[in-house]
Amino acid sequence: MSAQDRLHCDVLVIGSGAAGLTLALEASKWADVIVVSKRAASEANTKYAQGGISAVLAPDDSFDEHVKDTLIAGAGLCKEPVVRAIVEGAPARIKALQDLGVEFDMRPKGDGSQFESGELDLGREGGHSKRRVAHSGDITGRSVEAALLAACQASPRIRILEDHMAIDLIVPARFGGNDRCVGAYVLDCATSPEPGTPEADARTARVLTVTAHATVLATGGAGKVYLYTSNPDVASGDGVAMAYRAGAVIANMEFFQFHPTCLYHPQAKSFLISEALRGEGAILRTIDGTPFMKKYDPRADLAPRDIVARSIDAEMKRTGAEHVLLDITSQRPEFTKARFPNIYAECLRWGFDLTAQPIPVVPAAHYMCGGVAADVDGRTSVSWLYAIGEVSCTGLHGANRLASNSLLEGLVMGYRCAKLLEEKMGDRSQRPAIPEVPSWDAGAAAPSDEAVVVTQNWDELRRAMWNYVGIVRSQKRLARALHRINMLQEEIREYYWAHLVTRDLLELRNLATVAELIVKCAMARRESRGLHTMLDAPNTDPRMQRDTILRRGTLATLDGV
Ligand code: FAD
Ligand code: SIN
Repeated sequence: MSAQDRLHCDVLVIGSGAAGLTLALEASKWADVIVVSKRAASEANTKYAQGGISAVLAPDDSFDEHVKDTLIAGAGLCKEPVVRAIVEGAPARIKALQDLGVEFDMRPKGDGSQFESGELDLGREGGHSKRRVAHSGDITGRSVEAALLAACQASPRIRILEDHMAIDLIVPARFGGNDRCVGAYVLDCATSPEPGTPEADARTARVLTVTAHATVLATGGAGKVYLYTSNPDVASGDGVAMAYRAGAVIANMEFFQFHPTCLYHPQAKSFLISEALRGEGAILRTIDGTPFMKKYDPRADLAPRDIVARSIDAEMKRTGAEHVLLDITSQRPEFTKARFPNIYAECLRWGFDLTAQPIPVVPAAHYMCGGVAADVDGRTSVSWLYAIGEVSCTGLHGANRLASNSLLEGLVMGYRCAKLLEEKMGDRSQRPAIPEVPSWDAGAAAPSDEAVVVTQNWDELRRAMWNYVGIVRSQKRLARALHRINMLQEEIREYYWAHLVTRDLLELRNLATVAELIVKCAMARRESRGLHTMLDAPNTDPRMQRDTILRRGTLATLDGV
């Protein structure tokens, strides 16, 4: 290994979404930071966020009400001090984004088509008792990602390595040292050829050893574990899988959120139709035009997401239809076009005019409420390893996330974790020395020769998760899923050890781990709560008002049971 294949920094950030970039920017005030990102740096769940960021900014709103709405959605599993810390941190994060140039929409004038300065135009979404969602048109995520990335790129103390994928965390305990994280092995995807290309015949997979005093997982979610998802390809649960292999505690993986409304179209790749449409009067109908949400919940179309997704699922099963309809035609067309320009244009591209007709929608996997167990500052159970944003499980979301609370979580945690690290690391003499770390050893691995194995297993895994571990579950379906996952894991393991690593192979391996963790947590929770609905245990059991936890080599159990 050459010297260029070893890098060192104060803080290593894995992931370049809202959480990772916020942390990098804040930490760069006192530290040298490396950010690794497995594709283009802007490619993250963050970029696709539509609805916005929840924050108490209106005079008729209060932190108490935002906390209360979050706790109600979380179905008994939120940790109130965490919820309060995140909710109270929100206004300062919105202001910080404005300072970086994010233009949140201002309140419409009387005609609804122009904006006057002064007050933010706050959107409404399911489960929120007040209008409190700050948004930048219907492309909030794109604006936030662009502003944070530009600021990080301008910082002389931040080095961003695009097309670099973390493979595994470096924990010296694995080679006889102490139980602490000191960095990560990182695959340079740009110079490591894809299988099947002539270059792949040479043993060229380049793996960097990046050591750091503090390592921060900001790898986002795992929507790709399901066949249908609103998430982009990067969401393959790498952070959870790496942390699990490193011995960290993982929690609440059974709570996977399905967004109720993605556009139903064979080529549209689950394009999200923001909940904000329902906030502005859109209603759900069966394909014969009948509204149905009042039948399921007094809050009707603005009930929390788990209820709406389950209701759609029930209506689709009852009628045999492949989708339901979302109808915003009662709004003035000029308003709909001005408020949702991106969604309007995208629907039009697929042949649907939002302003003139109801559009076909279905639920799709959207958000991972569980993850690496962490406190509100990102501390995990492994020392010097931190987890922030969607990869973490802090107790903000409990059994179900309230809309627009996740960008907020990433922004507040990114900021708080940087402050914690500054306290711990500001005095260089207090930093523990980094031990000698071996380089990545590819052993006798050969170039990947059968990429089809990866594609086939990838498809099978996601289909099994969709069919057996979806919106509604049972012990029998979960057992079926686990059986298939175990078989796939066996094949993946064999392939992994025999071949040089590629991004696709690493993602598949991580997805299989995440699938296993979701199923194991789901099997341990023998009740229905929040996002976890069991046909054979339909009630909520007060004795199970606890987190599900698991660690490598142990079974999933309810905390303390
Ligand atoms: P991400 O933004 O997903 O960033 C993760 C980063 O880690 C990416 O850069 C990825 O490439 C990188 N990465 C992953 N694994 C590796 C690895 N092994 N090595 C190197 N890099 C890696 N939330 C809201 O609050 N409001 C909304 O309106 C909203 N709308 C949404 C709409 C859509 C379509 C989607 C998909 C999500 C939406 N969400 C919304 C959820 C929200 O966008 C995410 O929860 C949030 O952006 C997560 O931020 P993050 O920084 O934790 O992760
Ligand atoms: C949406 O705009 O509906 C997504 C909001 C979220 O996931 O919080």
